[in-house]
Amino acid sequence: MNLIFLGPPGSGKGTLAANLHKLTGLPHISTGEMLRGYIRAGAPLGLRAKAFIDKGELVPDELVIEMVRERLSADDCKNGYMLDGFPRTVPQAEILDGFQTIERAVLLNLDDETIIARLSGRRVCSACGNTYHTSMLGESTACGKCGGLLVQRPDDSEATIRNRLRVYHSQTAPLVEYYRGKGILSEMSVEGTVEDNTGRLLRLLGMEKS
Ligand code: AP5
Repeated sequence: MNLIFLGPPGSGKGTLAANLHKLTGLPHISTGEMLRGYIRAGAPLGLRAKAFIDKGELVPDELVIEMVRERLSADDCKNGYMLDGFPRTVPQAEILDGFQTIERAVLLNLDDETIIARLSGRRVCSACGNTYHTSMLGESTACGKCGGLLVQRPDDSEATIRNRLRVYHSQTAPLVEYYRGKGILSEMSVEGTVEDNTGRLLRLLGMEKS
């Protein structure tokens, strides 16, 4: 299944996609994670993207689209994938439709104040990228998976989170009607726990184990 996650920053797209990957093996393709990888590597694409990411603005379409086109041509995507963070504008969606068939789009709904609380407390492993929330960490500053140092993403300051939300509502939210019009949109509230949300997502997609 070729699947897209839609939803505001911090709604849990990455967390749910990572869980679904563990349970189903579907590749999880996060454009934010790919761009941060290019930044860590000091690659020209990363250097161009960093200025936009740090302010909470979208990276120009042409930089992101080529990156995704290349990734989706890899062998592991032949039997389906999950896109997390792409498309983010209607032009990105239209170009994607020109070379891929998207079968489902799942919109994660969460209110802005809960999002700010979740993102302000997010910590990410600087080595493996695993994501945590301070509420589950106690005093720990090390990744439970690989022991790497947990850090706060530079775009997780409250001012930048608020800008990312503004950008989402103006530039990405129109995709909800875009995919609704194609008859492939499903919605779910993600106010509950990660475990509950994962179970409901599996049922929504008809992927639960009997
Ligand atoms: P990206 O990395 O995609 O950021 P985002 O969309 O802002 O999404 P996040 O990663 O912040 O949140 P998420 O929904 O994955 O939530 P998570 O699971 O981590 O993009 C970053 C930047 O890259 C963009 O701003 C842009 O500049 C650029 N970019 C990327 N793609 C682009 C594109 N296509 N075009 C142009 N520019 C692009 O969860 C958040 C927190 O909540 C975590 O701490 C988690 O532990 C916690 N949590 C999750 N679920 C729950 C729950 N049920 N209960 C309690 N806590 C929870």
